[in-house]
Amino acid sequence: MIDMGREVTLEFIRVTEAAALKASRWMGRGDKEAADQAAVDAMRGMLDLVSIRGTIIIGEGEKDKAPMLYIGEKVGGGGLRDPKVDIAVDPIDGTTLTSKGLPNAIAVIAVGNQGTLASFPSYYVDKIAVGPRAKGSIDINDSVQANLERVAKAYNARTRELTAIVLDRPRHSEIIDQVRETGARIKLISDGDVAGAIATAMEDSGVNILFGIGGAPEAVLAAAALKCLGGEMQVKIWPRDDEEHQKILDMGYSEKDFERVYGTEDMVKGDSIIFCATGITGGDFLPGVRYEGNVAITHSVAMRAKTTTVRYVTAHHHLDIKTIPSRTEAREVEI
Ligand code: FBP
Repeated sequence: MIDMGREVTLEFIRVTEAAALKASRWMGRGDKEAADQAAVDAMRGMLDLVSIRGTIIIGEGEKDKAPMLYIGEKVGGGGLRDPKVDIAVDPIDGTTLTSKGLPNAIAVIAVGNQGTLASFPSYYVDKIAVGPRAKGSIDINDSVQANLERVAKAYNARTRELTAIVLDRPRHSEIIDQVRETGARIKLISDGDVAGAIATAMEDSGVNILFGIGGAPEAVLAAAALKCLGGEMQVKIWPRDDEEHQKILDMGYSEKDFERVYGTEDMVKGDSIIFCATGITGGDFLPGVRYEGNVAITHSVAMRAKTTTVRYVTAHHHLDIKTIPSRTEAREVEI
């Protein structure tokens, strides 16, 4: 097997930059589908220029339902001598945020050697995540209070000094009450739990733990970032209703899988993973795309699990010179 070298890291930043640049044109225009399509096409077009033979493991749903970087789609412009890689994408984490011009929307990709990424049913999972200081102190089967107490111990702090980040959804009312009962603070976010999970591993974010149910694709992407940052994530498959439960069984999962705890290593194996993100709308994690005349300025981050290096890249794109490749149709065959 040909392994992926570190030199491709910058190529993946180009992929998220392209998605962010295209998505940012739709910022605040109230059309999240158009923003998403623009970001997807830019990612696909830019991936064509990267010397990899990629398979989308985590994408925008199943092929026939959302033919946009679907699971199993072959991407990349590599030939026989180039590495076969697993890819997870979220061209926009925060489509609603983008369409409303609200903060914290990002374009995200994670890439690892073939066999690195777990495929999950594209539904919901229950999540818990922490940064490196609290690694080893979470258990998704335990109560909110017990988890907070252990995390507080890891931080050498009191529970009420902690901040939990939670998606603001009615389904989380119990979690929110339980966190507040311990005296800990809560940061409620309207969308974007990839950046939310990453915040737990950023020293200056003031966030210590993420709780709650969100998208399964977003969980794998967050696990990839946390692997690079030395954090930890645990998830459990969380069907919303009987119909979703049955659909997951029909995909080949068993009843036991609903009880299974998937840890960081179950979602992202080994240390070949590279994670990149670019800000679309400015937020706590990354500034958004900014335009100054014909120049667009983007802010991205690249992380590698192998070395745990975290690189921030600011790019000035001269739009009168630059063309961003874009491809709408999926390729039918592997090249
Ligand atoms: P989209 O960008 O696909 O809309 O996802 C945003 C998001 O907030 C994710 O970060 C999160 O995992 C998921 O939606 C939560 O789903 P829901 O909005 O259905 O509660």
